[in-house]
Amino acid sequence: MTIATRELERVVREIADEMSARPDRGEVAGYIPELARVDRNAFGLVVVDDAGNVAAAGDCDVPFSIQSISKVFTLTLALGKAGDRLWQRVGREPSGSPFNSIVQLEYERGRPRNPFINAGAIAVTDLILSGHQPRELLGEIVRFMQFLSDDDSIGIDEAVAASEQRSGFRNAALANYMKSFGMLENPIDYTLGVYFHHCAIAMSCRQLAMAGRFLAHLGRHPTTGLSVVQPERARRINAVMLMCGHYDGSGEFAYRVGLPAKSGVGGGILAIAPGKASIAVWSPGLDANGNSYLGRVALEALTKRMGWSVFGA
Ligand code: DON
Repeated sequence: MTIATRELERVVREIADEMSARPDRGEVAGYIPELARVDRNAFGLVVVDDAGNVAAAGDCDVPFSIQSISKVFTLTLALGKAGDRLWQRVGREPSGSPFNSIVQLEYERGRPRNPFINAGAIAVTDLILSGHQPRELLGEIVRFMQFLSDDDSIGIDEAVAASEQRSGFRNAALANYMKSFGMLENPIDYTLGVYFHHCAIAMSCRQLAMAGRFLAHLGRHPTTGLSVVQPERARRINAVMLMCGHYDGSGEFAYRVGLPAKSGVGGGILAIAPGKASIAVWSPGLDANGNSYLGRVALEALTKRMGWSVFGA
């Protein structure tokens, strides 16, 4: 083991210890009943570096609901299917609005601002659904996650999917509204069903950090050497994550952490240090924008100590 690897392991353990001692943890997501039951004190952190070394601490092998982090992977699949035509369906500008906002959709005639707000992710799901049965597409999405993570045990938490399906009135409103502008091709129930299920994929920090490796390494899957996406596409997905990955908290996140990253209301964050590492953190308590509170604090500490911000030291 190199000195640099030992140093990384020390920093990761140190941050996990610091986080477990903090009383300020945010609040778990209440609007999806199944997520409201998750232990607010859980914390996990995993870093996979460019040489494939894994530094892990805390609840790093406990699966949690990846929620909106799944949108990075559906965006990747959609770009593979439609290429730049995707951008006719959805923009790539920060929204400055909450993740489930409906107001912007009216001004912009049903074309969501970016692929990470709920409306945008529903439009992306609709695009990849065309030509498939919902179950077939879900299988494809799960297999993609398994391939990226080198782990066949990844699956969907059906209880979380059912919980959101019963309570997802806001997403149903967004989908209906887009449909009224002719922006969705498939039956709303099908599109929303797939969307709720891909948000309900359960993964641990270890599995998630492994899944993000291709974004840190010019689009390559490091274990097989296969190209997941072209380097230019990996760079662009990272750019959208940096600008839009934390909704109306994206500016603050860039200011404090300085890495492309995507959050989910399950309390996870996937962050990419291009050329250096793929990082996953999990702490279920959220801030006012619906992003993991301690997850952000931990990433701020990590990028500072490792000198990993894309904006320099
Ligand atoms: O559609 C929803 O509201 C959830 N399935 C996902 C939202 C989410 O994760 C927002 N991220 N912080």
